[in-house]
Amino acid sequence: MRVAMIGSGYVGLVSGACFADFGHDVVCVDKDPGKIERLKQNIMPIYEPGLDDLVESNVKAGRLSFTTDLAEGMKGAQAIFIAVGTPSRRGDGHADLSYVYAAAKEIAENLDGFAVVVTKSTVPVGTGDEVERIIREANPSADFGVASNPEFLREGAAISDFKRPDRIVVGVEDDRAQAVLEELYRPLYLNQAPIMVTSRRTSELTKYAANAFLAVKITFINEIADLCEKVGANVQDVARGIGLDNRIGSKFLNAGPGYGGSCFPKDTLALIKTAQDNESPVRIVETVAQVNDNRKRAMGRRVVAAMGGDARGKKVGVLGLTFKPNTDDMRDSPAIAIIQTLQDAGATIAAYDPEGVEQAKLVLNNVEYCDSPYQALEGADAMVLVTEWDAFRALDLSRVKSLLKSPVVVDLRNVYRPEEMARQGLQYSGIGR
Ligand code: UDX
Repeated sequence: MRVAMIGSGYVGLVSGACFADFGHDVVCVDKDPGKIERLKQNIMPIYEPGLDDLVESNVKAGRLSFTTDLAEGMKGAQAIFIAVGTPSRRGDGHADLSYVYAAAKEIAENLDGFAVVVTKSTVPVGTGDEVERIIREANPSADFGVASNPEFLREGAAISDFKRPDRIVVGVEDDRAQAVLEELYRPLYLNQAPIMVTSRRTSELTKYAANAFLAVKITFINEIADLCEKVGANVQDVARGIGLDNRIGSKFLNAGPGYGGSCFPKDTLALIKTAQDNESPVRIVETVAQVNDNRKRAMGRRVVAAMGGDARGKKVGVLGLTFKPNTDDMRDSPAIAIIQTLQDAGATIAAYDPEGVEQAKLVLNNVEYCDSPYQALEGADAMVLVTEWDAFRALDLSRVKSLLKSPVVVDLRNVYRPEEMARQGLQYSGIGR
């Protein structure tokens, strides 16, 4: 099947490359000529494990190509995906749909023969209706369907999430659109991935509900972790103890510095707005967003406390900057608020991150970027682990001890074993243990 993917960012590129890998003919479209030029040279705009190889092999096989020309990219496509950004609108937190609607209008002007326009971008309930209206208005004689097909890709694991999804959610209002999407996803559900067909509005809300629920789960365990510290309990054991209950499930119960990234912060906010506009507030999610926001700076204060309550003139070695490992994404990373809190308290920062430095430079000032974790710890008054990259899991602890000026280690991801740390003579604190 011919597929056009409008928007070659994170979601569009991964989805386009994966569809191509399943044998479809995919054209990825983007307005940014520099990005398209680099993609043609197999230079990825993001860091995602395995993506460059996947793109390269599918381009070689003739199933994947790139263009800035939307009309050309759409030619003969039965499925046209809208995978453009939906950032938080400045001021009110609603999803900014201007890119989605602009894409819909341009698609409308170039429709020729039946095609399904599919929103893959995370969009508020009712966006599909508006996309349909825009296309109908711009091109009254067009033959088309509009579908919703949210993505559930985790950065760093996006390719395997695409190829082995827990489920595929498709929201449609007509049989022809359903048939096209079922055909498109057939290779996946032959692998036993359940495909769920529902109404367009239900599908749109499902995506927000999924992300909000996961944000609730993380925030819940974070608050339990704080309580564990007060009452002398161990959050990892509590998480295991509740997670073994199938009704709860063990995933997303790792206590940490608060969630970040391109999805949870933005999508929880957008859901809160939609719910308020419909006079059906989601108070749990409102609280979660607030608790999570506060938590990030609180983590900075925790480091100050670990250094004896005074950070003035002290140096902190920060390991990990991205919002999670295996990505270069800094969006809403807890590291930003933590580092700013430490700087406000008078500390200087030396940091190491395997992939995130270029992005970090755009959002953080006055940070010394180092070439190795050890370099960041040289002469530091404390080490703080913010992002649990694999490379930090097996640090040489005696070397850490000898590099640090004071032996303070704050582990915001519970990567290290307290007994081992104590054996090395390090003053160690984790989260909720
Ligand atoms: C998320 C969703 O998982 C994905 O389905 C959706 O489509 C996009 O948003 P992503 O933002 O890439 O994916 O990362 P995810 O692995 O979900 O982690 C989000 C944040 O939660 C990270 O900051 C992570 O560190 C944090 N987290 C996650 C925890 O603090 N504890 C956990 O147990 C899990």
